[in-house]
Amino acid sequence: MPVEVLIPEAALHDRVRELGGEVARDYAGKPLTIVAILTGSLMVLADLVRAVDVPHRIGLLHASSYRGASTTSSTLIINENLAPDVVDRDVLLLDDILDTGQTLAALVDHIAARGAKSVKTAVLLRKVGRQTVPIEPDYCGFTIPDAFVVGYGLDYDDDYRHLPYVGVLQD
Ligand code: XMP
Repeated sequence: MPVEVLIPEAALHDRVRELGGEVARDYAGKPLTIVAILTGSLMVLADLVRAVDVPHRIGLLHASSYRGASTTSSTLIINENLAPDVVDRDVLLLDDILDTGQTLAALVDHIAARGAKSVKTAVLLRKVGRQTVPIEPDYCGFTIPDAFVVGYGLDYDDDYRHLPYVGVLQD
C-alpha cells in the first residue's frame, strides 16, 4: 500500500533531539532509566537516548494488547521476562504513540508497582480526539490527526517499521 509522508525524517530528527535536550536538563544528576515499550518505540528510543547527554540506563518492556473474541475491551499482556529492574530509579516510559491512553496508563501503574522512585511518560506521537483514559504525557513529539500511521517504528501487520518517516497508509 502507498504511504503518504506525514512527518518527514528531518522533522523527526530535530524534534527528537529537542526532546532529548529537555529530558537531559530535567534529569541531570538523577538515576534515570528510559524504558521503551516494544516494538514501536525502537527507533525513537535509539534517536532519543543519543540526545540525552546525561548518564542514564535503558530498559525495554514488551507489551501487547489482546482483544478477546467476545469482548470489546482489550487486555494488556506484559512480558515479564524483559522487564527491567527499576527499583529506586526515576523512570521515563517511552512509547511510540498515545491513542486511547490505555497502554501508557497501565504501564505507568506497572512500573510504579515495581518500585520505581518516579514515573514520567514520553510519546513521539499523540492522536487528537482518541483518548479515553485521562493521562497527560510529560513529553510529546507531535500531535497528529486521527489516522493510522506507520513508519519510524510503527507498523501495519508488522510491515513499514523501517521507513525513516512517519506516514499515513493510503487505500
Ligand atoms: P492506546 O490506545 O493504548 O494504544 O493508547 C497505544 C498503542 O496502540 C498502537 N497504535 C498504533 N500503531 N499506528 C500504529 O502503528 C497507529 O496509528 C496506532 N495507533 C495506536 C501502538 O502500538 C501504541 O503503542
